[in-house]
Amino acid sequence: MEVISVNHLRKMFANKTIHRDVSFKVKEGECLGLLGGSGAGKSVILRSLIGLEKPDGGEIRIDGVDISKLSEPQLYEIRKKVAYAFQNGALFDSLTVFENVAYALKEHTTLSDKDIRLKVHDLLKDFNLDGCENLFPNELSGGMQKRVGLARAIILGPRAILYDEPTAGLDPANTITIQNLILHLKESGTTSILVTHDMDTALRVCDRICFLDKGEIEDLGSVEEIKKDRTRLMSLFVRG
Ligand SMILES: Nc1ncnc2c1ncn2[C@@H]1O[C@H](COP(=O)(O)OP(=O)(O)OP(=O)(O)O)[C@@H](O)[C@H]1O
Ligand SMILES: [Mg+2]
Repeated sequence: MEVISVNHLRKMFANKTIHRDVSFKVKEGECLGLLGGSGAGKSVILRSLIGLEKPDGGEIRIDGVDISKLSEPQLYEIRKKVAYAFQNGALFDSLTVFENVAYALKEHTTLSDKDIRLKVHDLLKDFNLDGCENLFPNELSGGMQKRVGLARAIILGPRAILYDEPTAGLDPANTITIQNLILHLKESGTTSILVTHDMDTALRVCDRICFLDKGEIEDLGSVEEIKKDRTRLMSLFVRG
């Protein structure tokens, strides 16, 4: 069963075509890598999947539901089910790290303050962020902001996660932490799309890879197949 299904997506900004004809599917529990040069329209695809951008044509289905037909409150439900880990973290500047990560739990669950505290604490530890609870976003490094953004995105245990360059700007140790976390979520059945320019991460965590270029998408096949052809692989990331 496909969790995410995109059919003949078309998107323009003014008279500039971003997506000419984009189709792909992501099966339950699968991690799809989405590669492509800067400005190719990767982030626009992710935003479209949760209704933050309105396509000019084609359809997007989440668990079989065509999201173009949904009202704002229904889209809100989709955004609980499909988390978006923004490229820049997109933290609330006036809230602390704890408050940023706890936000969705306070909004959408009936957990007690104590349970929220414990849950946030555990998650921050997984992201190597313990001791940072009371800091504000402007007191964090770029890599730390990114990890807080990821923690915030996954706190509700979403069905699917859209990772927008989750390892960009991270040091090797934190890159591995994030890779392990993505793998761990995948093992527990979470479906995901990983937008990245980081070859090691794509090869380690993705099941299949797509390449977006000139408004169209090419399915490059499984990571297993791609790994066998190292030359093709290298040329791909040079393009990306
Ligand atoms: N809200 C918007 N209004 C107008 N143009 C936009 C808007 N959002 C994105 N674009 C344009 O759409 C194109 C694709 O942008 P997008 O952010 O999806 O690129 P990307 O593939 O994620 O690139 P990168 O790897 O640099 O993050 C760019 O040309 C960008 O200028
Ligand atoms: Mg982007």
